[in-house]
Amino acid sequence: MLEKFKQHLEQNFPKVQSFHPFFNEALKWMLEAGGKHFRAQLLLGIVNAKNPALFDKALNVALALEFIHTYSLIHDDLPAMDNASLRRGKQTLHKKYDETTAILVGDALNTQAFLLLSKLDLKDNVKLKLIETLAFNAGLNGMIIGQAIDCYFEGKTLNLEQVEFLHIHKTARLIAASLKMGCEICELDEKECEQIYEIGLLMGLIFQIKDDIIDATLDAKEAGKPTHNDTHKNSFVKLLSLEGAKKAKNDKISLCEEKMKNLDSKLANELQILIDKYLKG
Ligand code: IPE
Ligand code: IPE
Ligand code: MG
Ligand code: MG
Ligand code: MG
Repeated sequence: MLEKFKQHLEQNFPKVQSFHPFFNEALKWMLEAGGKHFRAQLLLGIVNAKNPALFDKALNVALALEFIHTYSLIHDDLPAMDNASLRRGKQTLHKKYDETTAILVGDALNTQAFLLLSKLDLKDNVKLKLIETLAFNAGLNGMIIGQAIDCYFEGKTLNLEQVEFLHIHKTARLIAASLKMGCEICELDEKECEQIYEIGLLMGLIFQIKDDIIDATLDAKEAGKPTHNDTHKNSFVKLLSLEGAKKAKNDKISLCEEKMKNLDSKLANELQILIDKYLKG
């Protein structure tokens, strides 16, 4: 599944015909750097479990998720946000080129994602749902307000409820949307979509707790990005201490696995593989 996605990504880097000397190189710089492709794999895992015949069509939806996620990282690394010079083991775009290029490549990946969805070889009503789910969760009601709060409240203390709001929006909603979009491709009923979306929110929160633990415990070479950078952020480690964050992560994994008992076994298996690989440890 992951190999198929990586191949698809490599064959479909966005590009534009123009006389700009390096824009196409900049467009693919962060995409070809790799990353875990966690969100793409969540979506493809659902499709694999529920309707594998749709797997090839789902590859472009997974690609759209990867574009949105990569745009969010390019902008997250800008001097106005986290001011990071390393990402996925490579120089960040604004370091490799300049801030103008990094902002515009982010903008391009964001809009390209929706162009991809609009052109899918799926029913119009399915495409519309996919567009709505991605726009809601990556946009104002998801990642954007999360990032806005993350940056605005740097150096200011939030309580646990506010920190959870921050991280649910910043990270968990896009992760939950990845699962929900898999459900939408397979035209599952509304109730099942919502049940899986709720599990996705929990997985997203666990993912961000793990990311905060990585910041506190790994060096930049191991993480592929600068670490020990969250000291003035409202990270889970800052709020709960390292031990507290680890415990919260384990408790939430147990809760997630409990909720997964209500899913059909094929689907639960697909999710369990990703939980074991990316959320545990
Ligand atoms: C990092 O995301 C940003 C967060 C939301 C925690 P990933 O850890 O998925 O980054 P890549 O795609 O693997 O580089
Ligand atoms: C970024 O969170 C989440 C996004 C929505 C991009 P972080 O700032 O913690 O991500 P890293 O640690 O830089 O990857
Ligand atoms: Mg950030
Ligand atoms: Mg960051
Ligand atoms: Mg982080």
